[in-house]
Amino acid sequence: MHITKASYLISSPEVDKCPPADRPEYAFIGRSNVGKSSVINMICRNQKLAKTSRSPGKTQMINHFEISSVSKEGAKDFFKWYLVDLPGYGFAKVSQAQRKQWEKMIENYLRKRENLVMVFILIDGRHEPQKIDLDFVNQLGEWQIPFSLIFTKADKETQRVVSKNVKMFLEEMRKTWQFLPAHVVTSAIKQQGREKLMGMISDMNKEIPG
Ligand code: GTP
Ligand code: MG
Repeated sequence: MHITKASYLISSPEVDKCPPADRPEYAFIGRSNVGKSSVINMICRNQKLAKTSRSPGKTQMINHFEISSVSKEGAKDFFKWYLVDLPGYGFAKVSQAQRKQWEKMIENYLRKRENLVMVFILIDGRHEPQKIDLDFVNQLGEWQIPFSLIFTKADKETQRVVSKNVKMFLEEMRKTWQFLPAHVVTSAIKQQGREKLMGMISDMNKEIPG
């Protein structure tokens, strides 16, 4: 798959305000500052597309990006889909009220958005399994929402440490899950994991009648 165009469309404060659900949609969620916006930019090869920041809590709404792709460079079989950048969870500096509002917005979005094909849950590859991520994974399971895992910032640790963290996370999941989700290790700096992510999205797009 080759992306021919990627552009910002709209930021919505709630699911009912999102653009028409007329094409497949893939959403990125995870802890604040984990690298959601950076992974979207890596996929689209545009560092300025989704706003990134050193300080957590940058992304606050449901942000839609409109993507056009073809099966391979030069082909004319254009296909349109959405990427969605979501605000992060676990940001310490927000009030209880703001947190509740965030939870409601995300729950409504995840459970009501009809064209949502897959949620990518991002996990910081530098750390051992964190309760907040496992809780979120289990929540999606309860809601029966399909998801895959993306382990981010692989360039900031040795491969050995990242592999160990991935293994530990999956082992933690295995205690309660019968099947384990697909996972990808990424580095936005090194463009690591891009091909695998593109392949996954391409395969899912093919399942959807054009
Ligand atoms: P919020 O929207 O605030 O929740 O953050 P986010 O999850 O969208 O994270 P964002 O993409 O803004 O990245 C946060 C910080 O981590 C930025 O300073 C990025 O440059 C940095 N970062 C993201 N991905 C990587 C990566 O793969 N490697 C390295 N070294 N830094 C990364
Ligand atoms: Mg962001």
